[in-house]
Amino acid sequence: MKVVPRVVALDRRNPDEAAIAQARNVLLRGGLVAFPTETVYGLGARGLHEGDVRKIFQAKGRPATHPLILHAASEAMASRVASHWTELASRLAQSFWPGPLTLVVPRGADVPLAVTGGLDTVAVRVPNHPVALALIHAADEPLAAPSANAHMHVSPTVAEHVVRSLGDAVDLVLDGGPCEFGIESTVLSLADHPPRVLRPGALALESLAAVIPEVVFESLTVAPNAARASPGLAHKHYSPRARVTLADGPRGVAHDARRGCAASRSVCAIVWSDEARESIAAMDTKLIVLPADAEAYARALFGALYEVDASGYDEVIVERVPDRPAWWAVADRLRRAAASA
Ligand code: TXA
Ligand code: MG
Repeated sequence: MKVVPRVVALDRRNPDEAAIAQARNVLLRGGLVAFPTETVYGLGARGLHEGDVRKIFQAKGRPATHPLILHAASEAMASRVASHWTELASRLAQSFWPGPLTLVVPRGADVPLAVTGGLDTVAVRVPNHPVALALIHAADEPLAAPSANAHMHVSPTVAEHVVRSLGDAVDLVLDGGPCEFGIESTVLSLADHPPRVLRPGALALESLAAVIPEVVFESLTVAPNAARASPGLAHKHYSPRARVTLADGPRGVAHDARRGCAASRSVCAIVWSDEARESIAAMDTKLIVLPADAEAYARALFGALYEVDASGYDEVIVERVPDRPAWWAVADRLRRAAASA
């Protein structure tokens, strides 16, 4: 029988104190607690305890060089993990925290190298979720937390995804319902001058540019051997078990679906346009229709990929999303999900 972790449901707006105390005890014993944030679920351990942090890498099967994000309860707590906290960091913190912006800053002496994969910089954010904030307060220490999924797999947006992806590798799952954004935070390096976006995410680039117009955002095209902007952010990532094929427009979707079926693969399709939906309406292909709005699409995407795996499809054909800034974070996830290595 498959062993499952303990899952405790709580009210996201008013987290139950007994549940938070239970989670705190797990953390103080050096255990792993999965918790909801406004982006995706995180797999948390005490971030200033090297032995605890190492357990995260084991549980995920994640290479030790792939750095983690520290989650703080306030700007004051965040600033203490940095060797210095600039006026710019403070301006960004005041504009966007709590919220889905991760800042990469010079590493403070208390932060174990295990957190940063050996780097002299550290990533930190203040999540905008009452359960996450209550847990960090209770631990009285920043929590190191990657997305709570097995390495290279799809990020979890509900507690059930965590259980499916990590099983009993996690000691306790706090279930705070579905995540508001459903896609990870935007990662901004303040170690680069001017500041550079390393990973597009839930905080829109326009919002960032409104506060720091000098921000640099490089092309999203990641060739397999190109230098990687975000260390450890592998080309292949966010991948369900099923093969992911990106299709160009309605014709591409229909063509790829036909090809998959001809090769005797069980195929399903994820589309957002009416035209793509119509292009395969007559075919015997399971259809998942996601919203045509970028934010709503992002919220639903990872759930759709978990659904594809749960139903056992061999291949999922995904209609390409529009090439516009609002869609860049989603386009980045889809490109990595479809990558072969
Ligand atoms: O929304 C999120 O960011 C979620 C929730 C749980 O907070 N966390 C998350 O963590 O997505 P993870 O481990 O899946 O992704 C961390 C990202 C990676 O792209 C990593 O390369 C980058 O942050 N990162 C961490 N430390 C860094 C550093 N010192 N320098 C550059 N990039 C760093
Ligand atoms: Mg991740």
